[in-house]
Amino acid sequence: MIEVKNLYTILSGKVIHKNIHLKAEKGKTTVIIGRSGCGKSVFLKVMTRLLNPYSGQIFFEKKDIAFLKEKDLIPVRLKIGFVFQGAALFDSMNIYDNVGFALKRIQKMSDKEVEKKTDELLEWVGLRGVGNAYPAELSGGMRKRVGIARAIANEPELVVFDEPTTGLDPIMTDVVDNLINKLKQEKNMTSIVVTHDLKSAYKTADSIYMMEAGSIMGQGTPEEFKNSRDERIQQFINGKAEGPIKV
Ligand SMILES: Nc1ncnc2c1ncn2[C@@H]1O[C@H](COP(=O)(O)OP(=O)(O)OP(=O)(O)O)[C@@H](O)[C@H]1O
Ligand SMILES: [Mg+2]
Repeated sequence: MIEVKNLYTILSGKVIHKNIHLKAEKGKTTVIIGRSGCGKSVFLKVMTRLLNPYSGQIFFEKKDIAFLKEKDLIPVRLKIGFVFQGAALFDSMNIYDNVGFALKRIQKMSDKEVEKKTDELLEWVGLRGVGNAYPAELSGGMRKRVGIARAIANEPELVVFDEPTTGLDPIMTDVVDNLINKLKQEKNMTSIVVTHDLKSAYKTADSIYMMEAGSIMGQGTPEEFKNSRDERIQQFINGKAEGPIKV
């Protein structure tokens, strides 16, 4: 689905990514883990061309989009659903309008169709009946689920999640992890998930990539990660800080 080769990113004169190679297979969940500030969120943005790479290739369904012009990116973006760090709902819109936004704007569905589809989506994420509420009235876990409903409204081929479980309690984390798995099982979607929650990574990933200071320093299945003898992977797994912790 996505294959990144030899990717470098430079922002404000600072090298953020060095020689990244990553493959996200169709219908699978690829998880990227790594410490705070290592470049995960920027990677998702570059990979989907919300930010520009410095050099390298980004194949999306076999087409290199790394340096595609803005207007040629429109059809690519329509195939991608985003669940941003923090959910990023429109505070002034109720949940119906948040979820139905793209259906109205992009698919030009009638109000009645939007209502039906939005009801289905909310039901699918386990939030039946919240359509008339506003984001501020929902818990963090509910907002994350609304964010997921919105991201999949257009039936994208790829869903990109940035820290979907950060700040959630263990039960809500489980609910969100289950939804990521349900997306794969029921809708055959491809997901790329950025997280620093190792337990979530083990539960959802087919393939895990570990990023460190802008480079990929390990890749494997959850099982391979658990059994890895690589010292840096073990340090991360066991929660040991390496060098001074940046706050
Ligand atoms: N627009 C930007 N311009 C310049 N530097 C940036 C920009 N956005 C991010 N950075 C820098 O890129 C680095 C990686 O940031 P990024 O947000 O990708 O980290 P992260 O791995 O997602 O961290 P966290 O786990 O805390 O979310 C940081 O050093 C950050 O300061
Ligand atoms: Mg981040």
